[in-house]
Amino acid sequence: MSELSESLGALEQRFAAAVDAVADEQALESLRITYLGRNGEVTKLRRLIGRLPEDERPSAGKTINDAAAKMEARLQAIAESLAARSVESALAESIDVTFPSIAPLRGSVHPVRRIVEQSCAYFTRHGFAVVVGREAEPDYYNFDALNIPSDHPARESFDSFWLSDTLLLRPHTSPMQIRTMQQHRPPIAIIAPGKCFRRDSVDARHLFQFHQIEGLLVAEGIHMSHLKGMLTGLCRELFGSNQQVRFRPSYFPFTEPSAEVDTTCPKCAGRASTCNMCGGSGWIELGGAGMVHPNVLREVGYDPGVYSGWAFGFGVERLGLARYEVDDIRRFINSDRDFLQQLS
Ligand code: FA5
Repeated sequence: MSELSESLGALEQRFAAAVDAVADEQALESLRITYLGRNGEVTKLRRLIGRLPEDERPSAGKTINDAAAKMEARLQAIAESLAARSVESALAESIDVTFPSIAPLRGSVHPVRRIVEQSCAYFTRHGFAVVVGREAEPDYYNFDALNIPSDHPARESFDSFWLSDTLLLRPHTSPMQIRTMQQHRPPIAIIAPGKCFRRDSVDARHLFQFHQIEGLLVAEGIHMSHLKGMLTGLCRELFGSNQQVRFRPSYFPFTEPSAEVDTTCPKCAGRASTCNMCGGSGWIELGGAGMVHPNVLREVGYDPGVYSGWAFGFGVERLGLARYEVDDIRRFINSDRDFLQQLS
């Protein structure tokens, strides 16, 4: 019994010294395992009880249990004081609420999208509906119905990515003219923005995927002046109030007469001479336009003797080049944050 008492006394001393050195909860837990765990020091001591004479065993067991209970209580007290200390230190942490915060990363509307939205807003204000079409269209909608039969050379300039013998990624938004006219009777006034695809080599003015805005107005008594008025208004909306619009004779199989549409260069305001934006001409080209060809009206079951209409198709990225005075169309697709931030 005296051997066991000595061992218990030594164990209590070691425990007291170790407890004083505990600095955090992790150390406290490892101390608990060392002394009071299933294979800890106290358990080892309990195993010695079996060696004692039978009549001494109960009191030896009680002595060890009392000592273990005291150790347990001491550990508990230390756990409580550690917890209190961590709350205090958290409370003591001071926060400078006047310190400038880290600004959140804020996105902005892409310049191409902004031009589309502004153009749509302008046309919807004038009673036009916005329609969105498919990006893959059969050749019938891309060409045949637009008065471009399969042997027509104009197909070359609209060459695109063919998905099958008859299905291709649309090279222009003009198929929406046909789809809309097939579904509705005049009067029709729509604007159709969307992606287009062409097998063009990429350079400062060409992408293989770009956006167009198509416009179509068909009713009785529609003529070129209506087109010129609407497009002049669009240019003033996008570039400023002094913009002029110029029509240059051109050719599209689906319009007659056809025109290339130019607007006064927003950089030099049409004064030309040495402007690097318009190359000195004073004008910037926006896209194609014209009066809807009678063959196209017939194709959708409209009587060209009763109805007439205009259509136009502008390249949105090209509008962006002029509007933001950008030197290279590829900047719009490079995801360069500095560039996009400047235009936001
Ligand atoms: C057409 O696509 C006709 N569908 C436009 C039209 C509609 C005419 C309705 C008459 C009536 P064009 O191929 O010229 O036309 O293209 C129109 C505009 O799309 C161009 O002026 C240009 O701004 C833009 N564009 C064409 N190809 C590219 C390209 N590879 N990258 C960027 N923009 C392009």
